[in-house]
Amino acid sequence: KNAPPEVPYWIPYLGSAIQFSVNPLKFYAENREKYGDVFTYTMVGRKFTVCLGTEGNNFVFNAKLADVSAEESYKPLTTPVFGKGVVYDCPNHMLMEQKKFVKWGMSNDAFRAYVPEIEEETRNYFQRWNNKVGGRGDLFTAMGELIINTASRTLMGPEIRALMDESVAQVYHDLDDGFQPINMFFEWLPLPSYFRRDKAHLKMRNIFKKVIEERRANNVTDKTDMLQSLMNQTYKDGTPFTDVDACHLMIALLMAGQHTSSTTATWALLFLAENPDLIKDLLEEQKSVLGSVDAPLNFDAMKNMTLLDNVIRETLRLRPPIIMILRKVIRPITFPGTDYVIPKGNYIAASPIATQVDERFYKNAKAFEPSRWENIVEEETGESVDYGFGKIAGGGARNPNLPFGAGRHRCIGETFAYVQLKTVISTFVRMYDLSLTERGMPGSDFTKMFVQPVLPVEINYKPRN
Ligand code: HEM
Repeated sequence: KNAPPEVPYWIPYLGSAIQFSVNPLKFYAENREKYGDVFTYTMVGRKFTVCLGTEGNNFVFNAKLADVSAEESYKPLTTPVFGKGVVYDCPNHMLMEQKKFVKWGMSNDAFRAYVPEIEEETRNYFQRWNNKVGGRGDLFTAMGELIINTASRTLMGPEIRALMDESVAQVYHDLDDGFQPINMFFEWLPLPSYFRRDKAHLKMRNIFKKVIEERRANNVTDKTDMLQSLMNQTYKDGTPFTDVDACHLMIALLMAGQHTSSTTATWALLFLAENPDLIKDLLEEQKSVLGSVDAPLNFDAMKNMTLLDNVIRETLRLRPPIIMILRKVIRPITFPGTDYVIPKGNYIAASPIATQVDERFYKNAKAFEPSRWENIVEEETGESVDYGFGKIAGGGARNPNLPFGAGRHRCIGETFAYVQLKTVISTFVRMYDLSLTERGMPGSDFTKMFVQPVLPVEINYKPRN
C-alpha cells in the first residue's frame, strides 16, 4: 500500500503555501496534470491530500465519522468566533441536532414573511445611490452592508436589526477580522486582531443574550425568527440547549451566511452587468410572473422565476465562495479504486469548484450561461442525508455542481440564501440599469476565507424610469 504522490517543495515547513494561496485553482490544475486526481501537498507543516473529481468529492463529503473529523480541521478558526458548545466545539451528533433546530427556523412561512422585508431593506439601502444621472457605485461594500441588514432583519430578529446601524456593525467587523485562513495555522500567535476578535465575541454574545432576556421577560411568543426558535430547544437526550448556546449558534449563522451571500450577490450583478440582455430578460420574467415590475415580490411567485434561479445557480457554479472543504484524517483511509492510503493526521480536501468548471461536465465550462440549467434536472444519486427530520434532497456527493457541499455537513442555508439573493437581485435590477466599468470583470482574491472579487469592485449604474 502506498501514500498518494506528493508535490515536492523547497521551503521547509511552509511547503507549497505560497503557490497555493496565490491561486489554488491553478495549483490544483497543474499538479493534477502530473499526479492525477489525488495528491498530497504541504503547507505550514501540515499535509493536505486533495481529492479532485466527482469521486474525490464523494470521498471527502461522505467520509465516515470514524475516519475523519470536520471539528479537528475547523475548530481553531471557528470556536473563538462562534463560542463554545456549538458547531465544531461539540460532538458531531450535537451539531446534527443543532442543524435541525436551525431548520425549524427556516420554514416556508418564515420565508413568506422575509421577502417583503428584504425587498424593503434593498430599496432603502440603494435609495442612497439615487440621483437622476447615475454614477459609479462600490458594489462589494454595498452588498456587504445590505446583506448584514437583511439577514439581521429576518433571521436575527428586529431587535438586532435596530442595533445594526450603531453598535453591531463594528462588533461584527472585529469578529470578521478574526475569521481568516491564517487563524487555522497560527492560533497561538498573539495577534492584535485576536484580542479584538475575543472582545467582539463577548460583545456579540451579550447583544443576543440581552434580546433573549428581554423576550423572555416580556413573554414574547409571536416571533417566527431564528432567535425565537433557538430559545426553545432541547437535545434528544434531554440536555438543554442553553441561551448561551443559542447566542453562539446565532453568531455561527451570521458568519456562515454573510460573506457567502454578499459575494454571490456581487458576482451575480457583475455577470448581469456583463450580459445586459439577461437584465432585460429578468425584467420580462418579473412581468410575466407578477404582472408588472412594480408589483411587490413574494416568495411563492418567485419560485416561478426560473431564469433568476438559473442566474444564481450559474454564478455559484463559476464563483463559489467556498472552494476548499477540509476534514482531518483520524484513521488511515484508502482512496477507493487505488492503493493510496491517506495517513492519520493528514487533512483531506475537496474542491468542488474543480468539477464545476470542468469541460467534461459542462460544455463551454468557463462561460456564464444560465440557460445551460434549463434542461438539466439536478441528478439525485440517492445518497441523501437524514438529520432525523426527513431526507435532505441533493445530498448526493457525485453531482459535479456542489457549491453548498454534500453529506452530513451540507449547507442548511441554501434556501434562505436563494430567497435572499433572488429578492435582492430582482429589486436591484428594478431600480437600476447597470454596466461594467472600463476595468471589466474583476479577478478572484483567494487569500480570504471566502473567495471574493479583487477590490475595489465598482459598477456603473443608472436609475431606471
Ligand atoms: C455548510 C456554502 C449560505 C449555514 C456549508 C458548506 C458549504 C456552504 C460549501 C459545507 C461545509 C463543509 O462541508 O465543510 C454556502 C454558500 C452559501 C451559504 C455557497 C450562500 C450562497 C449559508 C447561510 C447559512 C449557512 C445563509 C445560514 C443562515 C451553514 C451551516 C452549515 C453550512 C450551518 C453546516 C456546517 C456543518 O455541518 O459542518 N455552506 N453556504 N450557509 N452552511 Fe452554508
